[in-house]
Amino acid sequence: MTQDASPTAAKKLFIKTYGCQMNVYDSQRMAEAMGAEGYELTEDQAEADMVLLNTCHIREKAAEKLYSDLGRLKPLKAEKPDLKIGVAGCVAQAEGAEIIRRMPLVDLVVGPQTYHRLPAMMRGEAPAVLTDFPEEDKFDHLPERRATRRAPAAFLTVQEGCDKFCAFCVVPYTRGAEVSRPVDRILREARDLVARGVREITLLGQNVNGWHGQGPDGREWGFGRLIRAIAEIDGLDRIRYTTSHPNDMADDLIAAHRDIPALMPYLHLPVQSGSDRILKAMNRKHTAEQYLRLIDRIREARPDILLTSDFIVGFPGETDQDHADTLRLVEQVGFGTAFSFKYSPRPGTPAYDRAEVEGAIADARLQELQALLTRQQRAAQESMVGRTVSVLFEKPGRETGQMVGKSDYLHSVFVEAPQAQVGDLVQVRILESAPNSLRGALLD
Ligand code: SAH
Ligand code: SF4
Ligand code: F3S
Repeated sequence: MTQDASPTAAKKLFIKTYGCQMNVYDSQRMAEAMGAEGYELTEDQAEADMVLLNTCHIREKAAEKLYSDLGRLKPLKAEKPDLKIGVAGCVAQAEGAEIIRRMPLVDLVVGPQTYHRLPAMMRGEAPAVLTDFPEEDKFDHLPERRATRRAPAAFLTVQEGCDKFCAFCVVPYTRGAEVSRPVDRILREARDLVARGVREITLLGQNVNGWHGQGPDGREWGFGRLIRAIAEIDGLDRIRYTTSHPNDMADDLIAAHRDIPALMPYLHLPVQSGSDRILKAMNRKHTAEQYLRLIDRIREARPDILLTSDFIVGFPGETDQDHADTLRLVEQVGFGTAFSFKYSPRPGTPAYDRAEVEGAIADARLQELQALLTRQQRAAQESMVGRTVSVLFEKPGRETGQMVGKSDYLHSVFVEAPQAQVGDLVQVRILESAPNSLRGALLD
């Protein structure tokens, strides 16, 4: 018997998330806010009553994806005129009402600091475009995170915005000024996540290691101290954080990598370039040598730490020598993995009008850098073979009886474990390295 949709049936919300983990976190919070209004998440766009695109503005290609996705929504909107289409995230912030002018099928546009007002916007009780940076803190207006039982690994945003103003980057404009969330809120949210079954928390911020705040002891806390407090939560086994800036790696944070077993031996520390000239032009405010010395100190505290990074090639003014300096820095550090991007000029950023490196040259440099980084990734994975690591099972694997989870070093590990459940934290011996994952066996 088929069931008719009753008038009280939940409405369906489809969310597509682009960009960084902060957007993933925001999408969950928006889903919870709309959940309180009777909306239930769906994976099937065709059955949605509301489609929300949570967008990224970091490179031109990322931003353009929004418009191709909106184009593809036209037939659905024609078929279902009541369908609400919302644009959230960093393109929403950067382009505001222009999105509706270009794509009239969009009903509302909401920036990363105003999405707590999404329910009011849906009810028509707030403007259809909200992209200001309000005085009020959105987190004070969002429902508490009690909605559902959680996956074993969760994100927790502890800091918003960025004040670094790297010459290429839109984030300070799309996310606004750097704001650290207060200690008590962070601890409350972390405890609540753990009560809901979470065993691993990744603390998020665009410049997360710059987090600071007043502790319950009345003292000024830095990020290392915050991690120590979070590590005391009963039932929390693993802590990670991302993304960090090299200039904010305080001694206390480096020491935390030595002292706190729950803090995983993995650090994403973007450097962008190995050339001092380019670092200066990027406004990164440190040299290649300073980065290398910092890596030495981190490895002294935690010798097995796996390091990852971000690189931009073809930044305006980059010469063959600058590129060679980047390759040399990569050789010197030895990364576990890294992301590299061809420079994309972003409107409104200081580097926007600078003369660009010829496209073909930038492409060739990107290929060369990526080949080197891929070799390093392979080597790092190969070095895991024969070692014992902990793995937190996150979901069933491709084959029956198989589970997949993340190791301490954030490698995906496939394990034969027919009795195991999602959320189990087990010891695994690594048997084999595949291109983007490892295979291991349970240790008993
Ligand atoms: N807050 C982080 C980075 C956020 S953006 C940090 O400071 O490291 C993620 C990455 O995107 C950056 O590290 C950079 O490598 C890349 N990126 C940012 N702006 C870019 C641009 N205009 N063109 C190409 N890559 C860019
Ligand atoms: Fe962008 Fe630089 Fe801020 Fe990172 S630190 S978000 S690259 S401005
Ligand atoms: Fe993109 Fe905004 Fe994150 S521009 S990388 S979604 S902060």
